[in-house]
Amino acid sequence: MAATTSVPDSDSLFEEMAVNLSEYGYSVQKNALPLLLGNRLWEQSHGDGESALRPAGVGRKQGLQFNQAVRSDKIAWIDDATSTGAEWLKWTAELQAGLNSSLFLGLFNFESHYALYEPDCFYKTHYDAFRGEKNRIVSIIVYLNHDWLQADAGELVLFTAGDAKIPLTVMPEFGTVVTFLSEEVPHEVLLTHRDRYSIAGWFCARRDSPVR
Ligand code: OGA
Ligand code: MN
Repeated sequence: MAATTSVPDSDSLFEEMAVNLSEYGYSVQKNALPLLLGNRLWEQSHGDGESALRPAGVGRKQGLQFNQAVRSDKIAWIDDATSTGAEWLKWTAELQAGLNSSLFLGLFNFESHYALYEPDCFYKTHYDAFRGEKNRIVSIIVYLNHDWLQADAGELVLFTAGDAKIPLTVMPEFGTVVTFLSEEVPHEVLLTHRDRYSIAGWFCARRDSPVR
């Protein structure tokens, strides 16, 4: 499985993600988020970031719908107006540069938001991008939950195209970083029994403005 439990330096982490992405279309890295950054993101998501959370929409910007049958999380977009946001965007810019130099994906910009799934919330199976649109190329999910238990549920399920076609289930545990090809990997968030904090982000290609 494309996973590790060590804490590699960022260059080797980014390289391993790139290799996993090209081989499997996804990469799951435990304890991969730098600890200080993770702690700051945790604080922001539970502080002023939390008060900014609003129900998430589904679909393109123009036809944005609030369909709670599909997803019921709340989100807050992240920008560099706070030092925590700036630090996160610096780290993701380094990852973007690493992926570009290994995979020549032409990743050009990045957008991301905090997400809170309260108990009984979920996000049904979906793709993050539609084939051929060439906007969202690589998705990244980072988890901010300490001491997550199996009984808390709320797993991310990736339906990968591997030989066995066995869905890959990921617990939303603090420090775990998941990346996958936005057009290739359908995925869902199972109903959670506990407040579940994450960041979802997308590396986009130069064409088209980002989709929200
Ligand atoms: C998304 C998404 C997964 C997660 O926001 O598009 O798929 O585990 N999130 O939070
Ligand atoms: Mn998604």
